[in-house]
Amino acid sequence: MEFAEVVRRRRMVRDYDPDRPVPPEVRERLLEHALRAPSAGFSQGWAFLVLETPADRELFWSVTAGEGAPDAWLSRMRRAPLLVVPLSSKAAYLERYAEPDKGWTDRDEARWPVPYWDVDAGMAALLMLLTAVDEGLGACFFGVPGDRVPAFRAAFGVPADHRPVGCVSVGYPGDGDRRSPSLRRGRRPVAEVVHRGRW
Ligand SMILES: Cc1cc2nc3c(=O)[nH]c(=O)nc-3n(C[C@H](O)[C@H](O)[C@H](O)COP(=O)(O)O)c2cc1C
Repeated sequence: MEFAEVVRRRRMVRDYDPDRPVPPEVRERLLEHALRAPSAGFSQGWAFLVLETPADRELFWSVTAGEGAPDAWLSRMRRAPLLVVPLSSKAAYLERYAEPDKGWTDRDEARWPVPYWDVDAGMAALLMLLTAVDEGLGACFFGVPGDRVPAFRAAFGVPADHRPVGCVSVGYPGDGDRRSPSLRRGRRPVAEVVHRGRW
């Protein structure tokens, strides 16, 4: 697929065909492409938790979505045959930038204009979203609620210095896919968001 078409077609898919698993070679391509993302100082302070078995996926949903009957969003998202949780490690960036070529030996977080560890994991997530489209699949990036992160870490043995930046669900789109009501806001036009030369 042409790159411009991949970009144009990319949208969040929130329902999946539960009977069509993600082919292993596609799963591996998604992950390989994620690792092609740029990272500050080439820190690569990211990790990716891949959940594929029904038991692992159910565990993810049970610790992140909480109790009670699943709502429509959750019922559809639960059908995704593959979940990839990108995690970021702030510690890895503080260590990398304390090396001689960077020299931030005080490891002072105030030096960072924005949390590059999360920026980089987000870039990796976008590459997964685009790769899914290129392979004819659908994907969705969604958040993991902050108050669920301790339970998530405990369930999957994730070390305390790694934080999930969200989760990417992947699979072949299902019939019940719904566009987000947020889209009613409309895409902001170039003239409104682009400032050329001066604000
Ligand atoms: C940081 C981030 C967090 C998001 N969290 C959620 C989420 O929790 N649930 C969800 O259904 N979509 C989530 N989305 C998807 C957005 O709703 C979606 O990207 C936006 O409405 C534009 O639609 P499109 O991506 O289909 O073009 C998230 C997207 C981003 C970038």
